[in-house]
Amino acid sequence: MISRIKVAYRALHGEAAEWFRAGLSCIPGRVGCWIRARLYGFRAGRRTCVWNNVIIYHPAKLTLGNNVQIVPGCQINAGGGVEIADNSMIGPGVFIWSQNHAYKRADILICDQGYECLPVKIEEDVWVGAGAIIRPGVRLARGCVIAAGSVVTAATEAYTLYAGVPARPVRKRVAGEDVDGVPEDSSREVAHRDACRPDARNELPKTSLECLRRHS
Ligand SMILES: CC(C)(COP(=O)(O)OP(=O)(O)OC[C@H]1O[C@@H](n2cnc3c(N)ncnc32)[C@H](O)[C@@H]1OP(=O)(O)O)[C@@H](O)C(=O)NCCC(=O)NCCS
Repeated sequence: MISRIKVAYRALHGEAAEWFRAGLSCIPGRVGCWIRARLYGFRAGRRTCVWNNVIIYHPAKLTLGNNVQIVPGCQINAGGGVEIADNSMIGPGVFIWSQNHAYKRADILICDQGYECLPVKIEEDVWVGAGAIIRPGVRLARGCVIAAGSVVTAATEAYTLYAGVPARPVRKRVAGEDVDGVPEDSSREVAHRDACRPDARNELPKTSLECLRRHS
């Protein structure tokens, strides 16, 4: 009897949490962002906005840095842990998943095999285009761009545009100028590495962006 009450209590508690979050995710505008940052259950830094109609599963395992933008239509499953660092933007309809159904045993129903949790890490200054899918266990390196509709299945290189299914590197972002006509060795990564060496100009930059502005 007591165990039945416990099960019923847990089910009701879970149901109430779902309704509460569904309500929170409907509130539009910056007021909605402000309320969600405080009540939804994820950790968020300063000026971070989770806009309306974003669905987050396991919000307690989601960590957002400063000035992160997550726009309507995104779904994040943070069951395996999801971290999104400062100044990153997640476009409309993006799916970020950090757990898979375990499926390898053919003699057991997939729904009875549990989950395989693989954390996702999105570093600073990343832009994920509309409708992209970020697979469990993937790390998006600093400054990379994921084109709309891409499926990212493996770790990416810094300051690189990725596109397609599965996502492949297309080109590097560069410092100061447009890509066209810029020699290969002046890719943003190389510029960053050379300009931001600890001994460059005898000082350490605060952020890579600031460093690139100063040295490009
Ligand atoms: C990422 C993006 C900005 C790149 O634009 P761009 O710099 O003009 O790049 P290009 O159009 O020159 O494309 C470069 C190459 O990548 C390919 N590519 C670009 N976007 C692609 C996509 N979504 N899927 C597959 N391939 C793509 C192009 O076909 C091209 O290949 P090629 O060199 O073999 O011809 C753009 O492709 C994109 O996806 N924008 C997303 C916009 C969005 O989601 N906005 C929502 C608001 S956050």
